[in-house]
Amino acid sequence: MSGLQSLRGMNDILPTDSPLWQYLEGQVKEVLDQYGYREIRMPIVESTELFARGVGEHTDVVEKEMYTFLDRNQESLTLRPEGTAGCVRAALQHGLTHNQVQRLWYQGPMFRYERPQKGRYRQFFQIGAETFGVGSPDIDAELIILTHRLFKKLGVSESLTLHLNTLGSSEARARFRKALVDYLEGVKDKLDEDSLRRLYVNPMRILDSKSKTTQALLDSAPQFKDFIDEESVEHFDRLCELLTAAGVTYVVNPRLVRGLDYYTKTVFEWMTDALGAQGTVCGGGRYDGLIPLLGGKPTPASGFAMGVDRLLLLLEALEVIPADIYNTVDVYMVVAGEQAELAAFKLAETVRSLPSKPRLQMNCGGGSFKSQMKKADKSGARCALILGDDEAAQKVVQVKDLRGESEQKTLAWDDLAEIFA
Ligand code: HAM
Repeated sequence: MSGLQSLRGMNDILPTDSPLWQYLEGQVKEVLDQYGYREIRMPIVESTELFARGVGEHTDVVEKEMYTFLDRNQESLTLRPEGTAGCVRAALQHGLTHNQVQRLWYQGPMFRYERPQKGRYRQFFQIGAETFGVGSPDIDAELIILTHRLFKKLGVSESLTLHLNTLGSSEARARFRKALVDYLEGVKDKLDEDSLRRLYVNPMRILDSKSKTTQALLDSAPQFKDFIDEESVEHFDRLCELLTAAGVTYVVNPRLVRGLDYYTKTVFEWMTDALGAQGTVCGGGRYDGLIPLLGGKPTPASGFAMGVDRLLLLLEALEVIPADIYNTVDVYMVVAGEQAELAAFKLAETVRSLPSKPRLQMNCGGGSFKSQMKKADKSGARCALILGDDEAAQKVVQVKDLRGESEQKTLAWDDLAEIFA
């Protein structure tokens, strides 16, 4: 089996890194919990049709990035490129959208066949939240305030900017789209290749084109603000008011359109300059049309997803990772002698049962006293418990402080609780 490697853009998360992932996931869960969001777990594989219909046939994700294959029954299946479509599918299937408000969250791997680079992978991780049943801007505000709280808690909020826009109703967008295509047809020969390709299939995406010439052409293009419907304007204004009242600052960015088709009204992204090209760590918005599109009764919906890989890169770049998360052992048990070994397992269980639940690592595999002490030091434990045959006979243990200056001392087994308060 030698020489086998993980696939390009799909990374192992090694035990040296997993404390960081667990730390971040723990922080996010804590915040979601505080806002009353409940976890939902969906399958990683769904029918291809779900994403084609849900995410949009002419989006980059569906056109170019999906891992799609036929199963043994010749059914077309796809590794989920995102979580919203699957979450809506699950909610509809289990009747979660009937006359009730849902606040849900999920986490897990997503798959997109993109060109891998720093912050962009083919298997990446998202934590997402979706709400069903609330059409008013208060829930959009709640979702954003929640992410803001999280970013403050993680110590990254100073390096993130919230970009906010409204895409209006689908009718308003259709009118704008027509005017935009009419205008762009007139300057077709000056458009970049990507925008030209999008002109008829997904012209809104031209608005966030990276080409400078295209952006310059857009300066004289029809503006969405002249097409937007009154209701969407009111929704957006109220959202802005709510965010301001909550102390969340934002930039209104009329060119923010997002890459997935299901959005209506609010869209937002948290962006940073600290990560180079892949600077969006969280994106979301309202998608009132998706539930009916997937066969449900009209139900308003709104949500976001953050890229866990990118957030971790940001924590690293800003050096805001608490050092103690890497300590995975509190106490290391050094054992010398056959009688001692018999007693050591029992004693280890007693220590693990103490109210402070110490994390005790037992020296397994023998070794000289010196080599065991080396392992104890390397484990990161605060202290070592040393048990030889003599100590076992007397029901005592030596306690050695591995980090500080305190003297080694002998303690009766019954008194161990005092050092693990
Ligand atoms: P998205 O903008 O496609 O939205 O993805 C959300 C986040 O996932 C991005 O902001 C980014 O941080 C991360 N991400 C996306 N692609 C990659 C990649 N190839 N490598 C690493 N990170 C990546 C959605 O997926 C929507 N479902 C969000 C949503 C939920 N909207 C409403 N509800």
